[in-house]
Amino acid sequence: METMGWRADMALGIPLFDEAHQALTEQVALLQAMPDAAFEAGLAELVAALEEDFRLEERLMEAIDYPALRSHREQHARVLATLHCLAPGDIAAGRRVAALVLPWFEMHLATADTALALALQLAGRSRAEAHAGEGGGTA
Ligand SMILES: [Fe+2]
Repeated sequence: METMGWRADMALGIPLFDEAHQALTEQVALLQAMPDAAFEAGLAELVAALEEDFRLEERLMEAIDYPALRSHREQHARVLATLHCLAPGDIAAGRRVAALVLPWFEMHLATADTALALALQLAGRSRAEAHAGEGGGTA
């Protein structure tokens, strides 16, 4: 389903990720359309949603001992640092940064998050195979 900022080809095939990422792209699009009076509150909500999404991904990376955890986490941290460094009340700067979030997010989904989704799928398959091998014995 196509909605504001989201395209079907941005899906990673992991429903938990795809739902969160679709909601984030919509949130960015809504933020850009907000009047100045509502912008800062909208920006704070976007930052909170990004932090939640990044935390989930980072917990999953830790759980599978993901080899690219450090570089992936660094990408998340750079975006959050940029957003947190915005001066309160500088709506023009906030709008410039907000305009960069979606292209960054699209690139991040196509690279780092895609690699993570593949690693999680492989880890899930390995875990399932390990469980299938447990207690089964051999004939
Ligand atoms: Fe990510």
